[in-house]
Amino acid sequence: MLATHTKDRERMRIHHLTRRHARSGLLAGLLAAASVLAVGVTVAQPGTAEAAASLKSLADAKGRDIGFALDPNRLSEGPYKQIADAEFNLVVAENAMKWDATEPNPNQFTFGQGDAVVNYAASGGKKVYGHTLVWHNQMPNWTANLSGPDLLAAMKNHIAKVAGHFKGKIFAWDVVNEAFADGGSGGRRDSILQQRIGNSWIEEAFRAARAADPGAKLCINDYSTDGINAKSTAIYNLVRDFKARGVPIDCVGFQAHLIIGQVPGDMQANLQRFADLGVDVRVTELDIRMSTPANATKLATQAADYKKVVNICLAVARCGGVTVWGITDKYSWIPGVFPGEGAALIWDENYAPKPAYQAVADALGSGPTPVPTTPVPTTPVPTTPVPTTPTPTGNCTVTYVPNSWGNGFTAEIRIRNDGPNAINSWSFGFYFPAGQQVTNAWNATVTQSGTQVNARNMSYNGALSVGGTVSFGFQGTHTGSNPSPTSFTFNGSVCRNG
Ligand code: XIL
Repeated sequence: MLATHTKDRERMRIHHLTRRHARSGLLAGLLAAASVLAVGVTVAQPGTAEAAASLKSLADAKGRDIGFALDPNRLSEGPYKQIADAEFNLVVAENAMKWDATEPNPNQFTFGQGDAVVNYAASGGKKVYGHTLVWHNQMPNWTANLSGPDLLAAMKNHIAKVAGHFKGKIFAWDVVNEAFADGGSGGRRDSILQQRIGNSWIEEAFRAARAADPGAKLCINDYSTDGINAKSTAIYNLVRDFKARGVPIDCVGFQAHLIIGQVPGDMQANLQRFADLGVDVRVTELDIRMSTPANATKLATQAADYKKVVNICLAVARCGGVTVWGITDKYSWIPGVFPGEGAALIWDENYAPKPAYQAVADALGSGPTPVPTTPVPTTPVPTTPVPTTPTPTGNCTVTYVPNSWGNGFTAEIRIRNDGPNAINSWSFGFYFPAGQQVTNAWNATVTQSGTQVNARNMSYNGALSVGGTVSFGFQGTHTGSNPSPTSFTFNGSVCRNG
């Protein structure tokens, strides 16, 4: 059975598209607790080397992309930015490059948010995947009453200006998104683009995109096309037809908004049949939702599903990589669009990695590519670290006590939970000011990317009462001076220095 959106679901999704529902604190707590339990069994024991490989380093070693959908407004939240920086080598704008965001009024373009995505990616050496030039959702209101010829002209102008603006910065574009109907018809979606322009609108869009940015790969993207079915076959036929007639098309995106336990059994065969037409493929919007609340069993199924999807991509030579549709369950689009469902991403609402995180790492780390077991020291970036300004502040107090010698040191860190609530898991971050490098850690899982260090609780020290304290430590190297970091974040809050 396929993880399909039914027509009702699609209607609901359009209806709720801009709504975002807060999740209950109880659910967040349960999720965090479940994550801690599950993560605890996979991390190293105290006293052993801890510097785990990031998804990014594993994907880099495989020559594939590991991407995430970015909301640039969230980068001010410490843990969000730390994960974004460390774990991904590809960025896609969750909303910032859509038609309503880039052309709110006819022929008036606003690129601020899209530029923020591109600049963020450039600062971390990440690729940018463009999403999306034409989609029947999130079109600006002014397009609603245009006649066929006017809508075609507006669409071509939009593509020319947007793909032109980002020319050279985006390696591939979703030129057309979700153009095919749900269900078994194998037909086009009954959108205003289809109704007013007719069948030619898709190829008009692809030709306009090629003209605007000849260096970008041009993709068609859709959901419920992950397995072999009427909808994916309709896209298959379109790609074959475009190839035969010389209409530009280079790639096909499979969104993979899936439900736990329902990764299509023929997904690999499906991606492969497209690859065999001579186009690249990729998993573009992966999330795997469940009915909420989550529990350990559902999270385990989800982890196995994530692993399956990553392995499917790795098994198809032309699969460029996998992109997850967000970082944390805290900000996933799922609960707002599929009421009663959620917990679809690989970090929970408190930024603790879920079993699915480890499953993705396991998939990326397995197979023939040798993966170094000791962390490769990163050359410190010769710029000052970008200060993060997470909110709220003052929910924690930190003491950082270094003990240095020669080119080595240890540091003991003590954190007190000054927040209003007890917590079940924690993520702690800071920047090293002078290129120090962690070599091993105890009582926390510590990862480092460039100057950024992130520590997460072990299975046995995630729970902290109000006023409770936790300590962890690490050993590291320095190049002669060992100034202490000055700013620390704890579950998204900036701490007081104690
Ligand atoms: C979603 C975003 O995640 C939401 O923030 C927004 O409100 C609606 O769009 N398929 C797509 C994505 O191609 O652009 C959608 O993203 C999710 C479904």
